[in-house]
Amino acid sequence: MSREEAKNPGGPCTVHVCLNHRDPAMGRPSCYERGSLALKRELEKLLAGKVEVRPATCMGCCDRGPTVRIETASGERLLVRSDAATVLIELGIKPAQDGASPGST
Ligand code: FES
Repeated sequence: MSREEAKNPGGPCTVHVCLNHRDPAMGRPSCYERGSLALKRELEKLLAGKVEVRPATCMGCCDRGPTVRIETASGERLLVRSDAATVLIELGIKPAQDGASPGST
């Protein structure tokens, strides 16, 4: 995925957030324990009407989660230790300074 494609929120683009949850007793971390559900909800709010946000299963980066995959028609990009601001930047959307949705007044 090129940066130009990601900057086009009107183009075909989907953000997948890993919501895999493991019992901590298993001794292996999961994105859910690292806050991926809150991240997904925040992205759904920030990207409403611009980019589709979907739940995803494990992408193999469990110890570096929350893991997010940005998918376009021409490819994908995996982000680890993700937060909403990083995802917005990858999409070419400037994060709002006051916590309001990007583009709101
Ligand atoms: S638990 Fe999210 S990448 Fe494995």
